[in-house]
Amino acid sequence: MEILVAGEVSDADLDRLTALFCAVYPDPARDLRAFHEATRERWQRYGGPEELRPRRFIIRGDAGDSIIAKSSLLPRRVRTSRGEELIAGLGDVTTHPDHRNRGLGVAVVRAVFDLVDGGGYALSLFQTANARVFYEKLGCRIVTNPIVNSLDPTAPTANPFRDQWVMSYLAPGHMMPPGEIDLLGPGY
Ligand SMILES: CC(C)(COP(=O)(O)OP(=O)(O)OC[C@H]1O[C@@H](n2cnc3c(N)ncnc32)[C@H](O)[C@@H]1OP(=O)(O)O)[C@@H](O)C(=O)NCCC(=O)NCCS
Repeated sequence: MEILVAGEVSDADLDRLTALFCAVYPDPARDLRAFHEATRERWQRYGGPEELRPRRFIIRGDAGDSIIAKSSLLPRRVRTSRGEELIAGLGDVTTHPDHRNRGLGVAVVRAVFDLVDGGGYALSLFQTANARVFYEKLGCRIVTNPIVNSLDPTAPTANPFRDQWVMSYLAPGHMMPPGEIDLLGPGY
């Protein structure tokens, strides 16, 4: 397992990340240049605060010239009924189709959850459309709290996530805060 830190990702790794995404989500209509530029913006030009700097957990292929599994830790300050909390947003979880069912997906996700277990984050919160059971096997649960982004001027009470399920991972012995969770920003 390797960690790529936003702002320090090489051009070669950017290409490898893009190649993995396109292998998992093939789309002939995708504007590859625009997609690559958006990925570059996120992973090579980070200018935000240190505690919110995104990190990617990756596993390389045997030859070292590809990335075959990845997850992203997207730290966020959110508002809950307990006050403002630093949480571990999780995204970009993917394993290359040729390397599935070998435990790589679990490994890159556990890397994020280990940071929650270690006390670095109040909890992990994320959305998923198709992988609910995968996450349930890792101890995650469906979140029923209303999720909002109060900073969205047009829809401050709408759920900023778009996938069917919002899920959480809690360190052992911890509880979800009751009530609304305000992401104070867009979904991820
Ligand atoms: C979900 C994904 C990352 C799993 O990767 P993987 O490396 O094959 O996962 P693992 O080998 O670590 O699988 C661990 C377990 O989860 C199960 N699993 C894997 N993908 C699953 C899915 N989509 N739904 C339900 N269970 C799944 C495996 O069967 C395995 O179960 P077992 O331990 O009982 O045998 C991979 O299927 C993928 O990239 N899917 C497309 C992108 C996606 O949906 N990502 C999640 C976005 S939130």
